[in-house]
Amino acid sequence: MNEKNLEPNLEPGEVVVTHEAIARRLPVLAAEIAASLGGNVDGLVIMPVLTGALVFAADLIRCIPNRLRIDLITARSYGAGTQSQGPKLEGGVPQGVKGRHVLIVDDIIDSGRTIAFLRKNVQDSGALSVRTCVLLRKQLPEALATPCEFVGFEVPDLFVAGYGLDCDGWFRNLPDVVALRPRGETKNIVR
Ligand code: IMP
Ligand code: MG
Repeated sequence: MNEKNLEPNLEPGEVVVTHEAIARRLPVLAAEIAASLGGNVDGLVIMPVLTGALVFAADLIRCIPNRLRIDLITARSYGAGTQSQGPKLEGGVPQGVKGRHVLIVDDIIDSGRTIAFLRKNVQDSGALSVRTCVLLRKQLPEALATPCEFVGFEVPDLFVAGYGLDCDGWFRNLPDVVALRPRGETKNIVR
């Protein structure tokens, strides 16, 4: 196989959320999170969902003043494509959640299945409370109907990448959240 074939046939299209807008939103989101915790701050567990929430969680935690720990969780719902295969856990729920208040941090809500699945698994593993926070939520009925306490931005139903979000592992390093489109075309992928 020629090395070129390993590269995605998609490229960054229009910017959906700029890194400046994200930088302005994070302290506000973090203040909402800190306020909602009230007195329940001791031993808070922040649980970034790998790999997509890596960049978001790294920036968000530095805006949260509470005493906290980080426990990573890995969920996968996409193979090489842009259609969800349904969420799966890799490596199970970290043991450290037992008796703790947990904030699950993910990149995006699309069908809502991942966030609902993770919330149930973490709750069933003995967490004292479970809250969820996502950077992005797509404007889809299923996404809007999924309980989620903290949402950074509402976005249109486009396949997006950047700021940690990927397509088949690519584009996570882009500073902005962008729509993707087939190489050389002007139309974004709409799902
Ligand atoms: P859901 O289970 O359908 O809500 O999908 C959520 C998961 O799928 C997220 O954690 C993302 O990793 C991934 N995902 C959903 N939509 C997108 C997208 O537009 N771009 C990149 N990843 C996405
Ligand atoms: Mg993900």
